[in-house]
Amino acid sequence: MKLKDRTIKRLKGNYGQWILITGATSGIGKEMAIKLGEAGFNLVVTGRRKNLLDVLKQQLIEAYNIDVVVIAGDLSVEIDVIHLIEETEHLNLGIVILNAGYGTSGKFINSSIEKETNMLDLNCRSLLILTHHFAKKMKGQSKKGAIVLLSSMVAFQGVPNAANYAATKAYVQSLGEALSIELKPEGIDVLCAAPGPVETGFSARADMKMSKALKPKDVALPIINAIGEKTTVLPGFLTKFLVYNLRMTPRWGKIRIMGRVMKGFTKQQA
Ligand SMILES: NC(=O)c1ccc[n+]([C@@H]2O[C@H](COP(=O)([O-])OP(=O)(O)OC[C@H]3O[C@@H](n4cnc5c(N)ncnc54)[C@H](OP(=O)(O)O)[C@@H]3O)[C@@H](O)[C@H]2O)c1
Repeated sequence: MKLKDRTIKRLKGNYGQWILITGATSGIGKEMAIKLGEAGFNLVVTGRRKNLLDVLKQQLIEAYNIDVVVIAGDLSVEIDVIHLIEETEHLNLGIVILNAGYGTSGKFINSSIEKETNMLDLNCRSLLILTHHFAKKMKGQSKKGAIVLLSSMVAFQGVPNAANYAATKAYVQSLGEALSIELKPEGIDVLCAAPGPVETGFSARADMKMSKALKPKDVALPIINAIGEKTTVLPGFLTKFLVYNLRMTPRWGKIRIMGRVMKGFTKQQA
């Protein structure tokens, strides 16, 4: 499936040609890069694995004849966040997709505090700095701007056995919901994308075994289509099914159900 012509026209007309995607070496970010490259956008792609970014750049240029800029770096480290800001200063980035992130799972008391704070630095701190920077930059640009924040369905309640990961995504979701109102008069659209389980590099790094999962291609297009149209998108049928099924459950009940689901996803850790 490709992006529809009218969506491409809307996005280019509103936001221009240049898009930044953090975390484009694999999974959801890579799939969005391919779909947006196919639609003729110029891309800035980031991630720690420069070799994968270089291969992606080559593929995108050969297939779609677009401009691609690779900026490798670890966004959990402030100096690399600043490097990304400096390297994109000369570009009119109309859409910024802050997708880089990872999860942890298992019993909080047994977790590594270094890993948990590193995840907080990547999922929240770097996302905050980049959102603040690009919102200010977009305000001064001639076209509108859009910022997409990768939240998750775990953002909507506490999740035992993934307590800190779910808390990082609750932060992202809350920030995005508020900014979507606050930044609208400045000409900036903010979208929170809250997928359910997706088969990517995520589960291996988080040490989770997900029983059912979407594919990156199931979520990439719905996220792109929702830019400028919604505040929150629940991409893919499975995401909608899971979130809507829990919608009538009181928050305390949702926490228990999500805890049971996560216990299943992490039972190999026992
Ligand atoms: N998969 C799911 O079930 C799911 C569900 C809901 C939300 N999400 C969210 O979706 C986003 C994308 O995840 P994914 O599922 O596509 O997983 P993924 O395949 O592991 O992709 C994560 C991306 O983030 C980059 N990244 C990770 N750590 C980084 C760091 N310290 N500095 C810079 N870049 C870093 C990775 O690149 P390098 O490894 O090259 O650095 C990779 O490109 C994440 O924010 C995740 O929390 C995922």
